[in-house]
Amino acid sequence: MPATIEWKCGGECELRLLDQTLLPQRVEVRVCTSAEEVWEAIRCLCVRGAPAIGVAAAFGLCLGTKSARGASTGEFLRKIQEVGEYLCSSRPTAVNLSWAVNRAMAAVRKEAGDESERLWQILSAEACAIAREDVETCRQIGENGAHLIRDRAGVLTHCNAGALATAGSGTALALMYEAKQRGVSFSVFADETRPLLQGARLTALELSAAGIDVTVLCDNMAASLMAAGRVQLVVVGADRIAANGDVANKIGTYGAAVAARYHGIPFYVAAPLSTFDLSIADGAGIPIEQRAEDEIRVGRHGRSVPDSASCYNPAFDVTPAELITGIVCELGVLEPVTAENIRKIFAARG
Ligand code: MRU
Repeated sequence: MPATIEWKCGGECELRLLDQTLLPQRVEVRVCTSAEEVWEAIRCLCVRGAPAIGVAAAFGLCLGTKSARGASTGEFLRKIQEVGEYLCSSRPTAVNLSWAVNRAMAAVRKEAGDESERLWQILSAEACAIAREDVETCRQIGENGAHLIRDRAGVLTHCNAGALATAGSGTALALMYEAKQRGVSFSVFADETRPLLQGARLTALELSAAGIDVTVLCDNMAASLMAAGRVQLVVVGADRIAANGDVANKIGTYGAAVAARYHGIPFYVAAPLSTFDLSIADGAGIPIEQRAEDEIRVGRHGRSVPDSASCYNPAFDVTPAELITGIVCELGVLEPVTAENIRKIFAARG
């Protein structure tokens, strides 16, 4: 399988993205050579998952500013701001997108006295660092959370928070890869994740390729699976975590958390610190992406809703902190999920 994201920059620069809209039927790489192509690839979910879209956007910033390499420093800085804002407008919920763009822009601004060619080199070095660090962050998340998966456990996950959603091994799925490495025997239940089927198409593909036992279920079957005693742990990713620990993740996560609480099943979120947005007090402030009605009306299998009906299609929901047992991040497991514990972990990072 080609890499989720690959940056090639010799003479010409290009961002190669595994086109996730086509999986699992077709394996194709989409090549982007402009910020507009990266914007579109993020918007249509060719590249998706919070960390992956951050990494893609950082490289998109490089592509969108390469023509300004001969311009004055002032013009280059104006260009980078314009392209950065444009890329951030592609999807609103995952904060990793603006986090990565802002981090890359800040690296350039620190050296604003240099000529534009040099500034562009700094920008591309920072984008590469963001991608590299994501690989290491995923590895640490896997190590920190793998112990949560016990022998013979049934683990439910929602959407795809794996290698297809990051530059590394994933967040929620990194725990599974590490547990398998440690010789733990477990089964995964992947919610299909309506309407775009990231669980059925992507999580099932990734896990089965890694030799992990995976069963796909429709989202509306998760509660009955829990009632049957077949789920001992729920672990999901996140798109944005507010200062109080409320978590925005793929639509349906909240329902899974409610059902897990009712059945007394631990519910963990796995996410890097770049997914926290401490500027937002609680989940009510997280912008939720609304996507096209046709994703439901027509979907991937043909028309299933009459034109006379409307469709409700938010891409994400918010799970309140009180339903979350803990958050696994690169520094450890944050438990219980409180504003104070979140502040402490950021203070420890410095
Ligand atoms: O709409 P998507 O497919 O980008 O949504 C992805 C998710 O909700 C993931 O769970 C989240 O981004 C975490 S990925 C490590």
